[in-house]
Amino acid sequence: MPDVCVFGLGFVGLPLALSFAMRGCRVVGVDVDQALVAELQAGVTHHLESYQGTPIQEILRRELAAGRFRPTTDAAAAMAACDNIIVTVGVPVEDGRHDLGPVLEVSRAIAAGLKPGDLVIVRSTLIPGTTRRDVLPVLEQSGLKAGRDFFLAYSSERIAEGRAFHEFEHMPAALAGLDQASAERAAALLSIVTKAEITLASSFEVVEMAKVMENISRDVDIAMVNEFARFARAMGVDIFEVVRVANTHLRVNLLTPGPGVGGYCLPNALFYLLPRARELGVELELLTTARRVNDAVPSHVAGLALRNLPVPPAQARLAVLGIAMKDYSNDDRVSPALAAIRVLQEAGCQVRAYDPAVPTPHPFKVGSLEEALSGAHGVLILALQEGLPTRGLAAWRPLMAADGTPFIVDTRNAVDRAECEAAGFRLETL
Ligand SMILES: NC(=O)c1ccc[n+]([C@@H]2O[C@H](COP(=O)([O-])OP(=O)(O)OC[C@H]3O[C@@H](n4cnc5c(N)ncnc54)[C@H](O)[C@@H]3O)[C@@H](O)[C@H]2O)c1
Repeated sequence: MPDVCVFGLGFVGLPLALSFAMRGCRVVGVDVDQALVAELQAGVTHHLESYQGTPIQEILRRELAAGRFRPTTDAAAAMAACDNIIVTVGVPVEDGRHDLGPVLEVSRAIAAGLKPGDLVIVRSTLIPGTTRRDVLPVLEQSGLKAGRDFFLAYSSERIAEGRAFHEFEHMPAALAGLDQASAERAAALLSIVTKAEITLASSFEVVEMAKVMENISRDVDIAMVNEFARFARAMGVDIFEVVRVANTHLRVNLLTPGPGVGGYCLPNALFYLLPRARELGVELELLTTARRVNDAVPSHVAGLALRNLPVPPAQARLAVLGIAMKDYSNDDRVSPALAAIRVLQEAGCQVRAYDPAVPTPHPFKVGSLEEALSGAHGVLILALQEGLPTRGLAAWRPLMAADGTPFIVDTRNAVDRAECEAAGFRLETL
């Protein structure tokens, strides 16, 4: 089996590296985060992934013990040991501006150790055009020529966190090589893990663009249903029931509304298209509006809590249940829950949030449901988690503040209205 080097050991890179190791490849994983690498070397990860019932923690320890997976910060040693290189570092977005820094830094590290015959596959989600315009020239600073001395391919990553192992295997992949030989070598490597169809596209740009558009299409779909939710709410109709009924139409597939759109992928996607759109003089009006609609949802959700407060915000205490960017995730990057908490805090409220899956420290986080509920005037359910109950509300009531009627803002359609009202709560839904 081939040797594989995976750059970036995050939500994508770690389960991908382990997917190759599990199938017999010797895998070196490179990351610049020393604390992360030390944790992985010790067999520790907070990810919530599993493969056929085996948790990632067990897979990690097994592959370390078998010597098939080696996490390191030493890019040069990794490059010397492997001929197949996969890039999974991200392109962060801050205030709408993207940063190619990590991708360029990895490209330089690869160039420094690139050998004739090596294969480089970029799997990061990129601004369309990046592989050819930015990555390729940096790799060629090695003195080797792409297509003649080394192989270069781009294959988008489509997994959803929480289903990574399954989707690496079963999600159809899209791939483009710089030339036919690059595409063939890349397809052969990917098919060690991917059993689904691998679609070969005519250029890097097609696959890069398809990936960004896949993400934006979900962002737009969610914005649409979030707007439908406002309308349904004003009509006094339950949007979740509307979605259920609409989806009985064979050609309609509405998503469900929520507290906003979070994570690394969907909120960033528009900002991967905008720079090139500006360069090319193309208006992206609908896509920009959808992003703005989704960005505004956390404030709307916070508003649902603020208008129910029985006391001025400065005297109010609120419990937030779930801060992950989506249900059953440990990832709180760009989480709408964090945005809603910010709005509540800026209004003067004291917030205590409980999420048993998210490891990130936050000053407002507490260690138990009871601590979050204690003395609170209301509860916001912003993400579901194992170990975060949404039943047994009668037991919550005595923990809550005594002044006024406590309320629950349920953005996940998780609470039973009859139970909620019987327990003495007012229920607010989207
Ligand atoms: N998270 C997802 O569900 C998902 C799904 C599909 C595609 N993607 C895409 O995959 C890519 C990775 O996403 P992620 O969620 O795994 O990100 P992540 O932040 O979890 O992981 C990226 C890792 O790269 C490391 N890194 C940064 N610079 C480096 C360098 N110079 N050398 C080595 N390592 C470096 C970081 O320390 C981090 O551990 C992104 O492009 C993302 O858009 C993510």
